Amino acid sequence: MNEIIRMEKVNKSYYMGEESLHVLKDISLTVEKGDYLAILGPSGSGKTTLMNVLGCMDTLDSGTYQFEDMEVDKCTNKELSWIRNQKIGFIFQKYNLIPQYTAIQNIIMPLLVRGMSREEAVEKANEYIELVGLSDRIFHKPNELSGGQQQRVAIARALITEPALLLADEPTGSLDSATGKDILTLFKKLNDNGNTIIVISHNNQVAKQSKRIISILDGRLME
Ligand SMILES: Nc1ncnc2c1ncn2[C@@H]1O[C@H](COP(=O)(O)OP(=O)(O)OP(=O)(O)O)[C@@H](O)[C@H]1O
Ligand SMILES: [Mg+2]
Repeated sequence: MNEIIRMEKVNKSYYMGEESLHVLKDISLTVEKGDYLAILGPSGSGKTTLMNVLGCMDTLDSGTYQFEDMEVDKCTNKELSWIRNQKIGFIFQKYNLIPQYTAIQNIIMPLLVRGMSREEAVEKANEYIELVGLSDRIFHKPNELSGGQQQRVAIARALITEPALLLADEPTGSLDSATGKDILTLFKKLNDNGNTIIVISHNNQVAKQSKRIISILDGRLME
């Protein structure tokens, strides 16, 4: 099976006391292994909500969601966290690095958490550090790195566990346009290497190098 994601008629609302806000409306989406998909939409259209559902960080109200052979809509919290940890690499606008740790320490964290030895983890990290083009800054802490360098650290950290899916929410949102372009070129390279990527943004530039573009408007998808 070459499908990694199949969503059918997914709905999601936020409930606040008596009030509710219907954010995702009958979302159906399939993503193949090796795809590079951009989901574009204006502020408030439901992008981050969709990312949270795709990333198994939030549940859906109705519809079905299959990730590889797992029925996400029927998963327990423990199973959802297993999918997040084992299957998905997350990249965020704000990088979300650990400030006290150097670049290399941030990158190897997911491997140490899995019980790998430090030597083995560092060796594995070298491959990804080279891939993202960060070789000369690995002993610096996040506040000693530029935004683009911090995002490269975050990308290496997301890749090091070899996730089935790379999920990015506004990955260039904190970067100037030239640096943002560099990061997108890196995504293109990762996709050429076989990584499946979904990138979510309000910025059309982000879609330039993707294989597929889907718009989200008021909680509905349009391909
Ligand atoms: N936890 C929440 N509780 C209640 N309402 C929420 C919550 N999160 C988001 N919303 C609302 O849901 C709608 C969609 O929000 P979402 O964050 O998915 O939009 P977005 O497309 O990511 O926007 P942006 O481009 O500004 O990040 C908005 O109206 C927002 O106010
Ligand atoms: Mg958002």
